[in-house]
Amino acid sequence: MSLVKHHEKMETNVLFLVLGIFVTIIIGGIVEVVPLFSVESTIEKVKGVRPYSPLELAGRNIYLREGCYNCHSQMIRPFRDEVERYGHYSLAAESQYDHPFQWGSKRTGPDLARVGGKYSNDWHLRHVVNPRDVVPESIMPGYPHLARNELKFDDAAAHLKTLRLVGVPYTEDDIANAVADFKAQATPEADTAALLQRYPKAKIGDFDGNPAKVTEADALIAYLQVLGTMVDFTDFDPAKKADANIYR
Ligand code: HEC
Repeated sequence: MSLVKHHEKMETNVLFLVLGIFVTIIIGGIVEVVPLFSVESTIEKVKGVRPYSPLELAGRNIYLREGCYNCHSQMIRPFRDEVERYGHYSLAAESQYDHPFQWGSKRTGPDLARVGGKYSNDWHLRHVVNPRDVVPESIMPGYPHLARNELKFDDAAAHLKTLRLVGVPYTEDDIANAVADFKAQATPEADTAALLQRYPKAKIGDFDGNPAKVTEADALIAYLQVLGTMVDFTDFDPAKKADANIYR
């Protein structure tokens, strides 16, 4: 009975009521937030995810500059229709080194989270120069300048350093070799042993079929070809998640 009486006092006094609400919210907030401080990361560690190589990173910068995200998302949601169309749903770790991430929700064109390896480099070149050459009904704009423009990325080291500030684990070695690495990745006959050591499974080649220079198209295609390919899902069965071999 006395509880009800006190309650009435609280409900009829604005100051008490505000104080009561405040205390309740603080308790709720602490209960939700404090446990997170004891967790190292909320992202599950996954095998194969690595920072982008300098050439892939240059391609990603071009993707942002050209506004490709206005029509393309990069996140496969865990729904049957999406998984059947695009492949395994996206894992948090796969965009762990994306600053900013490119998840998005606008899909004028298809999701690109796993477009890597889906088409040849030649297909990508023709598509990006004039999409109608390979997909007659396409409404995507052409970007022919990318195949003409030489890639200017002499400040590659600064880009890597900046990303390191926000937690991407580039090493001193990666930074020192950034410019050499982006050139080597687009040159088929270059010595790429060290590059592959730094960026395992990076695809090497003359992406745009023009050996005379490293173009913006080289970088963009290198980026598109790595999307969604870092994690090996070949033996992954979502029903047996606990003993899956993709987690570190
Ligand atoms: C105005 C919207 C729009 C913009 C901007 C756009 N795209 Fe597209 N994109 C589409 C549409 C629509 C399709 C599907 C038809 C086709 O394949 O061309 C597509 C398809 C694609 C595909 C093939 C995907 C697949 O799985 O078949 C790739 C790769 C792609 N776009 C890359 C890019 C890149 C890179 C950029 C930026 C340089 C870009 N798009 C900008 C609309 C757009």
